[in-house]
Amino acid sequence: MDLTIRPRRLRGSESIRRLCRETRMSPDSLIYPIFVDETLTGKRPIPSLAGQYHYGLDCVNEAVEECLAHGVGRCILFGIPREKDPVGSSAWAEHGVIQEAVRAIKAAHPDFYVITDVCLCEYTDHGHCGVLRGCDVDNDATLELIARTALSHAQAGADMVAPSDMMDGRVAAIRARLDANGLSHVPILSYAAKYASAFYGPFRAAAGSAPSCGDRKGYQMDPHNRKEALKECALDVEEGADLLMVKPALPYLDIIREVAGAFRLPLCAYQVSGEYAMIQSAAAAGLIDEHRVMCESAVSIFRAGANMLITYYARELADAMKKGEIG
Ligand code: PBG
Repeated sequence: MDLTIRPRRLRGSESIRRLCRETRMSPDSLIYPIFVDETLTGKRPIPSLAGQYHYGLDCVNEAVEECLAHGVGRCILFGIPREKDPVGSSAWAEHGVIQEAVRAIKAAHPDFYVITDVCLCEYTDHGHCGVLRGCDVDNDATLELIARTALSHAQAGADMVAPSDMMDGRVAAIRARLDANGLSHVPILSYAAKYASAFYGPFRAAAGSAPSCGDRKGYQMDPHNRKEALKECALDVEEGADLLMVKPALPYLDIIREVAGAFRLPLCAYQVSGEYAMIQSAAAAGLIDEHRVMCESAVSIFRAGANMLITYYARELADAMKKGEIG
């Protein structure tokens, strides 16, 4: 055969395949979600997320130490408060669950990087991400509460705040509030293109944050839309976001690709609870190889253009990267 160009030459050995890899990742690009439950002592398995735990404030550092043992140096915190009310006031309480978790982690591990999810849905008794007027979330009234919550997280020592509520104007409101309080160095990771997704199901069961009436379609994005993701990202850039996020990840690789090409900010993707649960449960049923599907999914997300990934598999992925299986 007279073939001049033979792509297989670059696939001939593990060594040359690794040399020619186009997508490079490291444990530095992984963020692990940690759930802290104010009512809990010790840790308890999360039924909807096999292999994941709720941690009490007394043992949140156990989660951190496990991350560190795998080479994962960053987390995002989610809180389950003791009390819920119509406005979510435990979200910004001086001694709220997240505020105390941040203090506990920072006291024991000052270099462990702590991002906090800023939202009201785990704190409101109706499960919506803001204050309600009828069955609709009042955007402008919610902004004040979101800004207050972000400020209290940063004052407790959070390294970065990540608003996930999808209210219009929240990034500007948070930036202004942090800056007015001497916290201009705290970056904002905006859940900029967050879709109204069925893939959040296991998380909502874990965080007790499913809306009791209606759904989130009035504030989270319609899965049919691509241009709207660019509009949301552009607005958040204008408002002062430091990093952008696309969420979920695997069903929205086209959006990740598009946002990566259109903006200069670091781009985070969130491999959400339903994505994890699908891999995990298909593997438990003996249908797929969990490790390999986990690796391939993460590679796809980075190949699409994500620079960092929030994932329940962070620790296992870090191990795979260290072994050279991926990255
Ligand atoms: C809070 C929030 C949610 C997730 C992250 N932050 C739930 C939601 O919007 O309903 C989902 C994460 C996951 O599914 O892993 N608003």
